[in-house]
Amino acid sequence: MSQNKEEHNDQRSPPRRKQGTLKIFLLGFMGCGKTHLGKQLANKLQLPFFDLDEKIIEKEGKPINDIFKTEGEEHFRLLEKDVLHLLTESHTNFVMACGGGTPCFYNNIDYIKKQGTAVWLNCSVDCIYERLIKEKSSRPLIKDLSDDQLRSYIIKKFSDRKIFYQQATVIINEDEVDLEQLTQKIFHS
Ligand code: S3P
Repeated sequence: MSQNKEEHNDQRSPPRRKQGTLKIFLLGFMGCGKTHLGKQLANKLQLPFFDLDEKIIEKEGKPINDIFKTEGEEHFRLLEKDVLHLLTESHTNFVMACGGGTPCFYNNIDYIKKQGTAVWLNCSVDCIYERLIKEKSSRPLIKDLSDDQLRSYIIKKFSDRKIFYQQATVIINEDEVDLEQLTQKIFHS
């Protein structure tokens, strides 16, 4: 009899499963590739993919920029926590791209680690800068910064947030992450 997907995953990843579920959370600074890689990983593992920011946008019916502008960051962080819990508790298997700040508020990092596997995509500051410079406008925290200010912002925020990111169970120290390497690291590190 051929193996079903559950059995296959069980064989290669027993330590990563929490109570029979497989929940993979991709963490990291803005621009580190969480959504891009998350989609690829979910496709490879044949799991549902969730982009936390997209789910917040769906719930609120407006872009993240507007939520920050009208309700403020505090409101956004509460929404972020609520949607994180809702999605996590209503699905048993998935890959989720979290927002850059998700692990840094409301003990979300502890929650994520209890629920599944936290994976930090640890890109260098230079790489983050090169990527974000091209797409500042859609990101409320950096949209009004000059290029010089952007670099200083990344350095400061990255150092503030590192303490949360580095609690991830799997850490990928690469700017260009290969899907094969990522999968290997998650299941066999
Ligand atoms: C944020 C990152 C964004 C989004 C919001 C706040 C942050 O997500 O959640 O703009 O605090 O770093 P991405 O990392 O997906 O851009």
